[in-house]
Amino acid sequence: MAAADALAGLRIVVSAGPTYEDLDPVRFIGNRSSGKMGFAIAAAAARRGAQVLLVAGPVALATPAGVQRVDVRSAAQMHDAVLAGLPADVYVGAAAVADFTPRQVAAGKIKKRDGEDGLTLELVRTRDILADVAGHARRPRLVVGFAAETDSVDSNARAKLVKKKVDLIAANRVGVEGSGFESDDNALVVYWNGGEQALGPAPKTELADRLLDLVAERL
Ligand code: C5P
Repeated sequence: MAAADALAGLRIVVSAGPTYEDLDPVRFIGNRSSGKMGFAIAAAAARRGAQVLLVAGPVALATPAGVQRVDVRSAAQMHDAVLAGLPADVYVGAAAVADFTPRQVAAGKIKKRDGEDGLTLELVRTRDILADVAGHARRPRLVVGFAAETDSVDSNARAKLVKKKVDLIAANRVGVEGSGFESDDNALVVYWNGGEQALGPAPKTELADRLLDLVAERL
């Protein structure tokens, strides 16, 4: 396996899972990411001899063998942990990072009040980890992003490739039965400047290796 050897000894940072953005001491805004895809990538990279740092959001998954893991909760914490993990040869941003976070975390539990029939939350943009890694002074040689899309998968993924200045985007369609969030299986289309390749449908463990084959080829 010539392609597998290309990853041996390399430092790979992988982000995985959702982020939780706290509203008050008991509530948060999260998402349906299970972390399975990112954990499978970290496990496969370690099996292939890479030195792997896995930055994990809140997930219920065991740490893959040979992987160094840092647990985080929020997008801001994930941002700091990923950037602190540089320099690296490869970054794979498989986490479903919140795009917005509450402007303020309430110190006490937010109460419903008589006479109020709604609640307006003020959210602010989070920092884009993927774009910051891709634009970093110590940019990894290869930066891989994910794109979970409900529609226009192709054009949205290609736009992300350019806008975030990443080398590979692995896109999956959200809402397809038996793939994507929470599932053990997935189907991806991987895009790069001048090419694309469909991977799967297949178990995420197998897709992880196929994605790493593409990474190895493009290093
Ligand atoms: O633009 P969109 O959020 O769909 O892009 C998804 C990709 O960007 C994923 O790789 C995700 O990990 C990354 N991302 C990020 N930081 C954010 C939002 C998304 O790294 N704040």
